[in-house]
Amino acid sequence: MQSGMSAGGNFALQSEGRDGPHVAIIMDGNGRWAARRGLPRVAGHHAGVAAVRRVVERAPELGIGTLTVYAFSSDNWRRPAFEVRSVLALIAAYLRLERDALREAGVRLEAIGRRDRLPRMLLREIAQCEAATAGGTRLHLRVAVDYSSRDAIARAAARAARGLHGSGTPELVERAMAETLREEGGDVDLLIRTGGEKRLSDFLLWESAYAELVFTDVMWPDFGAADLEAAVEEFRGRERRFGGVPVCERIADSGQRSGNAQVGTTTSAQRAQSSRRETGWVDPVEKAIGVIEPTQAKGGLEWGTVDIGGGR
Ligand code: FPP
Repeated sequence: MQSGMSAGGNFALQSEGRDGPHVAIIMDGNGRWAARRGLPRVAGHHAGVAAVRRVVERAPELGIGTLTVYAFSSDNWRRPAFEVRSVLALIAAYLRLERDALREAGVRLEAIGRRDRLPRMLLREIAQCEAATAGGTRLHLRVAVDYSSRDAIARAAARAARGLHGSGTPELVERAMAETLREEGGDVDLLIRTGGEKRLSDFLLWESAYAELVFTDVMWPDFGAADLEAAVEEFRGRERRFGGVPVCERIADSGQRSGNAQVGTTTSAQRAQSSRRETGWVDPVEKAIGVIEPTQAKGGLEWGTVDIGGGR
C-alpha cells in the first residue's frame, strides 16, 4: 500500500508483516451529540454513520492498512431494545448501501465479533458485503459487532488448548493465541477513542498491548478527516519502544559512544567501566555486589557477578 506519510515516520514502526498500520477507533459520543441538539440518541448514531464514511475514505490515503471500528459491543445489548434495533439496522443499512462504493474503493470489509446472536437480516448483509469486497487490498475495514475482547481472548485460549491437547506450556499457549488473534487482524498500532472518556471498554485488549492511545473530546458524529489526520500525526510523533529503550540510548549503552569497535560483543563489565569513565556515575548495585554478567556454564547460560574494582 502506498503510504501517505513521510518516510521514516512512526508508521514505519508498525508491527511487522502487514501492509500498513492498524488503527482502531472507539466511536463514542453519539448519544451526547444528539442530546446537546435536543435530538433522540439514535439521531446521534445516524450522524455517526457519516463520520464512519469520512474516516473510511481518508484512511487509505493516510497509509492505514487496517481500520477496526467498534460499532456494537457485547455489552450494548443492555441498551433499550429500540436503540439496539436502530444501531443494528443502521449497520445493516451501511453494509448494503456502501457495498459497491467499498468494493470500488478497494476496501475489504470484515465483521468481527459473535455471529450467533445477530438478526438474520444483518448476517445476510455482512455475508454479502464480505463476499463483494473480498478482493479489496487498499484497506482492511473491520466492523466490530457484538464484540467483546474478553470473549475473543477466551475463544482463542480455548482453541489453543484444543490444538495443544492439554500439553501446552504458557509460552506455547501464548504463541497459539497470538496466532489466532493475529489471523483476525493483528496488533493495533494506534487506538483512538472519541467522546472524552478514557477507557478501553473491552475493545481489542490483547491486540492493543503496545498500541499508542489517543483520546479526543470530539464527539464521534463530529469526527472528520482532519481529526483522523491529527491523531495519526500525534502517533507519528510518539516514540515506540515496545518495552525496550530508544535506539540512540541502546547504541550509546552498548559502547559505541566511547568509540568501542566491538559493539554488541562488549561485556557488561566493559560497558560498566566505560560508563564510569564517561559519566562519573558509579552504580551502587555494582559497587555492592559487582557487575552481573552471563557466563557459559555446564548446563547453559548462568548469571554471575564480576568485580570490576575501583568503585568500592
Ligand atoms: C457509542 O456512543 C456508539 C455506539 C454504541 C454505536 C456506534 C454506531 C455507529 C457509529 C453507527 C453504525 C456503525 C457503522 C460501522 C456503520 P454512545 O451512544 O455510547 O454515546 P454517549 O456516550 O454519548 O451516550
